[in-house]
Amino acid sequence: MAAAIADEQRVVYNFIGKSGLRVSNICLGTLTFGSEGTTSRPGQNTEEYAHKVLNRFVEWGGNFIDTANVYATGKSEEIVGSWLQAKNERDRYVVATKVRFNMDPSNANQIGLGRRHITQAIEDSLRRLHTDYVDIYQMHCWDHGVPVEETLRTMHDLIRCGKVRYTGSSNVTGWQMQKLVAVADKLDIPPVATLQQQYNLLCRDGEMEAFQVCKIEGIGVLPWSPLKGGLLTGKFTRDATPTDGRIGWVAQNESRGSHSHPAWSKVKEDEKVWNVIDTCKRIGDAHGKSVAQVALRWLLQRDVVPSVIIGARTLEQLDQNMGAANGWAMTAQEMTELDEVSAPTLTHPHDLINKVNVARYNPWMPEYRVGNK
Ligand SMILES: NC(=O)c1ccc[n+]([C@@H]2O[C@H](COP(=O)([O-])OP(=O)(O)OC[C@H]3O[C@@H](n4cnc5c(N)ncnc54)[C@H](OP(=O)(O)O)[C@@H]3O)[C@@H](O)[C@H]2O)c1
Repeated sequence: MAAAIADEQRVVYNFIGKSGLRVSNICLGTLTFGSEGTTSRPGQNTEEYAHKVLNRFVEWGGNFIDTANVYATGKSEEIVGSWLQAKNERDRYVVATKVRFNMDPSNANQIGLGRRHITQAIEDSLRRLHTDYVDIYQMHCWDHGVPVEETLRTMHDLIRCGKVRYTGSSNVTGWQMQKLVAVADKLDIPPVATLQQQYNLLCRDGEMEAFQVCKIEGIGVLPWSPLKGGLLTGKFTRDATPTDGRIGWVAQNESRGSHSHPAWSKVKEDEKVWNVIDTCKRIGDAHGKSVAQVALRWLLQRDVVPSVIIGARTLEQLDQNMGAANGWAMTAQEMTELDEVSAPTLTHPHDLINKVNVARYNPWMPEYRVGNK
């Protein structure tokens, strides 16, 4: 029997950017649901276990669920769909899914952000999710092969015919984010409501440009991999090569290293990784919280973030991660300490622009820089 959850620990609900949609400040990511296809890693959840995770998330007050057509090649959406069907209270939940990546390599049009693929992909997602609308339909990654006008018009058509409530973006650079805003403006359609991007204490690249666009335009940033795939949990040390879980799976085979899960040979030599973890541990000890809870809380206290997308492979991980949501906060000084130990190296011309603008703060001008709430 899982422990009862006190009211003051339950999630809070935030508006998602300038949209009228309110979501729990923790969103449940479903990348670990289902073991089919290429997005799967060891320890993926069965349908039965995933439903337990979803039920427990709801006990914490969670109303926001993120999936994608490509997760476990449709199985993740199916698992969320069978849960929604059994729950029979669709209107209580905010369901986000995605389109862009390849669902069938043998079909030249089962990929990308063109009209043909999006129009078919939404039907497939709705069928798997057992619903007749998606709350946030996200473009999973920039597509160099299609004009933005075609993509945005198609996405807006889905809003007009009631299959989608809001649109979202994911994995874009700064100029691409600005382009999405400018083209929506030119077409006189609403801008995307969200940007889903990797964001954690070891990856703050989005702050340099894309998140600044979001801040100015009122677009909510939804961090993915908030624990850097499990690295920011305190369960690893630099002296022992991990063998368990997702990080262990990567550590046991250098070729599995990627932008989101770097090879262990790089991680263990990276002083910043261990300094960040040590700082999270020290701050967590002062609050009776874990490294993971501090890493999540840092994101929850960033001004551009309405909700953090967590990954939880087990019910214990879920409970721990939900414990970041409410009932405590880090002080301004602790936030500054984390900002400093995780500070990204500024590339040119960011270094120059930041330096020469220190004395140019104008309270009448919009504040671009991402900061703390
Ligand atoms: N838009 C995109 O391109 C994109 C990309 C990636 C993810 N996402 C979304 O973001 C969600 C979260 O991403 P993520 O799964 O990479 O998040 P994450 O929080 O960085 O990593 C989750 C993994 O960390 C470990 N973990 C989590 N909580 C833990 C705890 N309290 N203690 C110890 N270990 C813990 C678990 O792996 P082990 O138990 O195996 O160690 C878990 O599967 C996904 O489900 C998906 O919805 C989106």
